[in-house]
Amino acid sequence: MISKPDTMGPRTREAPDWLVRPPVHLAIIMDGNGRWAQKRHLPRVAGHRQGAQSVRRTVTACRAWGIRYLTLYAFSWENWKRSRLEVDALMHLLEDYLDREESLMIEKSIRFRAIGDRSRLPQSVLRRLEQVEASTGRGVAMDLTLALSYSGREEILAAARRMASDAIAGKIDPAAISQEDFGRYFDSSGLPPPDLLVRTSGEYRVSNFLLWQIAYTELYFTGVYWPDFGEEDLKQALLDFQERQRRFGAEGGTSAVTSGATER
Ligand code: FPP
Repeated sequence: MISKPDTMGPRTREAPDWLVRPPVHLAIIMDGNGRWAQKRHLPRVAGHRQGAQSVRRTVTACRAWGIRYLTLYAFSWENWKRSRLEVDALMHLLEDYLDREESLMIEKSIRFRAIGDRSRLPQSVLRRLEQVEASTGRGVAMDLTLALSYSGREEILAAARRMASDAIAGKIDPAAISQEDFGRYFDSSGLPPPDLLVRTSGEYRVSNFLLWQIAYTELYFTGVYWPDFGEEDLKQALLDFQERQRRFGAEGGTSAVTSGATER
């Protein structure tokens, strides 16, 4: 049997037999809520509500299957352009999710965190995010990260601004900055690069998600709308991933070996 990567971190349950090489870090672009609702002649918000159920299912499955890092694109920087009604509903769903899942996250040793531009989030959401980040902060089995008000380009730009300030202040030598040094200025600092990025709903784009981090990430696209995305769909994505030949730019390569998570 091929051995599992040693970057998994602690797990309380064995991964299923079919999961020989799980990605250390799985990132998901959850797409298709609106079309799911439209197909059923329902308001878009109904699709988001059903999408929140898929979030629960996915987190539960990933935790049970030993996925160490799960990052979900819940609200992009560009999503602020949507109607007030839809934005309010999404913010409400998020608060509701945190209220309902906080105790389970603590019980399951899941550390929660949000990345993105917090300055635009409503005060009540921000407060709740900070509370849950604090209450789950000791979780060691899995890191659940929600990208909220998130833009990959903005994250890179913000990191560049912070690094430039440090350079001007003489704290760092611009000529000596490495990729790892730059990565430390990111909001998502401490997360290893995703091994697998899944996008639902049949769109073939990365939509400004983790742009710096996905340089060598394997991409998986499925036509399934996010509200319909279940355990079986996730299993298919993971099975596909473990057949990939990952070379990270080198020649040869044998398997979907992971990129080597750096534990926070
Ligand atoms: C994309 O579908 C999805 C979003 C913009 C929001 C994702 C939100 C959820 C899954 C529910 C709430 C989240 C949590 C964490 C509880 P879309 O609206 O762009 O779909 P469309 O492309 O079919 O219109």
